[in-house]
Amino acid sequence: MSEATRDRLGELTTEEKASLTSGADFWTLKPIERIGVPSIMVTDGPHGLRKQAADNDHLGLNDSVPATCFPPAVGLGSSFDPELAERVGVALGVESAIEDVAVILGPGINIKRSPLCGRNFEYVSEDPLVAGVIGAGLVTGIQSQGVGSSLKHFAANNQENDRMRSSSDVDPRPLREIYLRGFERVVKDAQPWTVMCSYNRINGVYASEDPWLLTEVLRGEWGFEGLVVSDWGAVNDRVAALAAGLDLEMPFSDGTTDRQVAAAVEAGDIDAAVLDTAAGRILDLVDKALARPAVAGPLDVDAHHALAREVAGRSIVLLKNDAVDGAPLLPLAPEASIALIGEFARTPRYQGGGSSHINPTRIDTALDALTEAAGDRVAFAPGFAFDPRTDAAEQNRLREEAVALAGSRDVAVVFLGLTDPEESEGFDREHIDLAPHQLDLLDAVVAANPRTVVVLSNGSVVALPFADRVPAIVEAWLLGQAGGSATADVLLGDVNPSGRLAETIPHRLEDTPAFGSFPGSFGHVRYGEGIFVGYRWYDARRMDVAFPFGHGLSYTTFSYGDATARVDASGDVVVTVPVTNTGARDGREVVQVYAAPESSVVERAPRELKAFASVAVAAGETREVELRIRREDLAYWDVRVDRFVVEGGTYRIDVAASSRDIRSTVAVEIDGDEVRLPLTGESSLAEVLAHPVVGPIVQERLAALRESAGGAMDADVMGDDTIEKMMQSFPIGRLAGFPGMGVDREQVAQLLALGNAPQQ
Ligand code: BGC
Repeated sequence: MSEATRDRLGELTTEEKASLTSGADFWTLKPIERIGVPSIMVTDGPHGLRKQAADNDHLGLNDSVPATCFPPAVGLGSSFDPELAERVGVALGVESAIEDVAVILGPGINIKRSPLCGRNFEYVSEDPLVAGVIGAGLVTGIQSQGVGSSLKHFAANNQENDRMRSSSDVDPRPLREIYLRGFERVVKDAQPWTVMCSYNRINGVYASEDPWLLTEVLRGEWGFEGLVVSDWGAVNDRVAALAAGLDLEMPFSDGTTDRQVAAAVEAGDIDAAVLDTAAGRILDLVDKALARPAVAGPLDVDAHHALAREVAGRSIVLLKNDAVDGAPLLPLAPEASIALIGEFARTPRYQGGGSSHINPTRIDTALDALTEAAGDRVAFAPGFAFDPRTDAAEQNRLREEAVALAGSRDVAVVFLGLTDPEESEGFDREHIDLAPHQLDLLDAVVAANPRTVVVLSNGSVVALPFADRVPAIVEAWLLGQAGGSATADVLLGDVNPSGRLAETIPHRLEDTPAFGSFPGSFGHVRYGEGIFVGYRWYDARRMDVAFPFGHGLSYTTFSYGDATARVDASGDVVVTVPVTNTGARDGREVVQVYAAPESSVVERAPRELKAFASVAVAAGETREVELRIRREDLAYWDVRVDRFVVEGGTYRIDVAASSRDIRSTVAVEIDGDEVRLPLTGESSLAEVLAHPVVGPIVQERLAALRESAGGAMDADVMGDDTIEKMMQSFPIGRLAGFPGMGVDREQVAQLLALGNAPQQ
């Protein structure tokens, strides 16, 4: 807290301090004119500004001032490029500053635990590293403009179903390694001005009133310096929330909760210093907002639209591009006549429903962009109507018209996807299928013209039962307001696709990690899959998937040379690999580095992403790519000592083009963190053997025993190793007096005392 803030706090009454810690209305904080504290505005987020000038709501129902709708996180995350995210952040900051918005409510980096989560389009990845790195890029960019960000939704908010009550019941390892890790990275790397706590409970405790989450972990362990704001309506018990570390309740109450806070302070139920701290953080936030350099409007709509188009182009993932008649179907041949099919090409779905809903400055459609580029080589048929109430005869007519068109053209490009009512904030999907009439249409089109490209518009993965039957598939997600032109850029080859899947596309919902435990029941959802989320799950079970995490094709090809890996002075692992663009086009490759220890004391995924880089490589060029694995990212959460621990030993480093396309593997030796646990009679023989002091003594004793037992231990039949393995879990205390062991209680006690004695 600054000196100035402390002074101003001294001038405020308890009631005034309490009033500072909740909103004035939906989007503004309360001023205290008496001492010159103005009201500041906070507004959604995350992929564009939703500043409401008139009727306010937090569900995206009423209009907001026009703003650039950048690709939602599902798109941006697929770029695997934090620099691109930072540029988007800068643009969001500029738009916020022009509109005098102090804090933009984003990014959202919750883990995509299940493809069913209705809000996955607003989240980055199933992997915490991708979520954290992209999130940090956005925050850095936004805040470089003197505008605050709000990292949300903290934490373990991975579904919409019952989101305001449900308890996410998560064990410590997955909580730390999967669900909190991205937040930890953003907080440590980018210091967001605010963190937004989520609606849900975590292991029974509301996030809004969890002192462990909001204070111990966020501030104590991670060093968060900003303020914690509630999600809109997330406060259950305001006084408990304040005590837990929630500084600002949003949106507003009728004054009741402010009075509760003031009364609790007066009655001594809560320390006055706690309210001072929260009110001080609000004053600090206001100061930061006031320090923002003035930004002259108006918004350069064209420049931001161009950026939105560039980013959308970088977000598209080319899933499949088989050769037909000797050449890949994409990019579309320059002279090809095109049957453009699917309502999404004319009426794009470019964002999701709910609080992130932007009023865009303009909207590009693929139909317009392709027509502009290819003229009358393009003919369009909607193929289906979005409205599920459309009668069957009309859907049939639309299908027949499209099929006839497909048969008369060189190539068919079919836009399929999810409609607004199928996917939104506020509710989850119940399946991952495209509408039957869309799938029927595709089958009929492919029968009429096998040269068919599918373009998908969806905020989260859908099943692709047709994947083997169509030669080319473009995953075009929800791409923001310039998605239509960006999709045309990729189809025509003006942009070489470089997006990669930040979430696995499974064959079936039944294959997904949370199947059977999503969305839970009776107010609880048990995260039974533990750390095995996303590709960690499919890899551990060696399951076939439709398209793996990290996958994405290009119009060129890349080859990888031999990777090297070394541990540098800081303990990080530096990986280098030469990457050559072996094709005829310039392109970008997303180089991915996965790691896993060769053996571990805990369950581990077969590989985990530890570093990645999106690099531009010109045709024919070779680039030496250097990637850094942070030492702390190798750690697992050790429940015995309640901290992250790096295990010592050999780690396998896979340098890869996707989680299932490993191009070079190297090994690296890592020095482990020391974990000193007191030895007790319950310590297993394995634990005792691992002890630096008593381990060698016991080892010697065992060798002597083996020697003296000779044939009696039947080492020839079982092998020394087998016997040791059998003994590994034997508690040392129970060895005392055990027949044939030759150790008594006194000796065991001495051993334990030696092990527990302070070491020099
Ligand atoms: C959402 C937040 C959003 C807030 C304000 C809530 O319903 O969960 O993400 O920032 O509303 O609109």
